[in-house]
Amino acid sequence: MAELITIDDPDDPRLSDYANLTDVELRRRREPAEGLFIAEGEKVVRRAVQTGYETRSMMLSPKWVDAMRDVIDALPAPVYVVSFELAEQVTGYHVHRGALAAMRRKSLPDAAGILATARRVAVLETVNDHTNVGAVFRSAAALGMDAVLLSPDCADPLYRRSVKVSMGAVFNVPYARLADWPHDLEEVRAAGFTLVALTPAADAVPITEAAPQRLPRVALLLGTEGAGLSARALRAADQRVRIPMSNGVDSLNVGAAAAVAFYAVATAPAAG
Ligand SMILES: C[S@@+](CC[C@H](N)C(=O)[O-])C[C@H]1O[C@@H](n2cnc3c(N)ncnc32)[C@H](O)[C@@H]1O
Repeated sequence: MAELITIDDPDDPRLSDYANLTDVELRRRREPAEGLFIAEGEKVVRRAVQTGYETRSMMLSPKWVDAMRDVIDALPAPVYVVSFELAEQVTGYHVHRGALAAMRRKSLPDAAGILATARRVAVLETVNDHTNVGAVFRSAAALGMDAVLLSPDCADPLYRRSVKVSMGAVFNVPYARLADWPHDLEEVRAAGFTLVALTPAADAVPITEAAPQRLPRVALLLGTEGAGLSARALRAADQRVRIPMSNGVDSLNVGAAAAVAFYAVATAPAAG
């Protein structure tokens, strides 16, 4: 059972994992370097624990102690109980969800291991917005994608905002970073995947005609807000596919496009 420790000093070093959570640049450097990430809110903290992430500590306001009692009872890590005011002083924002946990990262699988067993993967290029990464993972989990592969410059799926937007789906969907972009797309193809680039370009094939659900193994390439997929990624793809749009809208947000494409490949059993 976890030890409950009441803390009333915002500079207490035991709270350092939670310091300056609003300083995005600092946290982006610090968390991967220290093998740390932050789970926020009761559901997300529970999901992190259930999916086997090790807890370094938890920081709760008193009213969350009862709600989290079962988790606390099974936790071999300290639980710091702090007032809302102190939580705000430490983190830099009003922690209205009241429960934060500092978790230990696991080592990431390599892409080859993922590709050996997956049939449907999403491949993100330069998706550097944490909200979009979280949204893509949430849809990937909900719509049965097997894994997500990230170009080297994609945002961290375990950054607090990504974790929160994904509602913890980042813990369930395996992911890996491709080190050499876009060269490593060849590795994806060599594993038997057809590379399908999602692009709103008018000359791309409408997704209903392309029928990517018929492919035995499919990798859906999605690009960043603004620029979209790079010319090199588009050249590397086997097919270019578009989601038809109405009312003069020129593109969907990448999270929305991902959900439509994931649904399209999930709606029929893959052949072969
Ligand atoms: C906001 S869009 C980028 C728009 C960019 N101007 C372009 O031409 O790709 C972000 C990503 O979402 C996907 N996307 C957005 N709308 C799409 C559509 N209608 N059809 C297929 N993919 C789409 C693409 O992968 C795109 O790279």
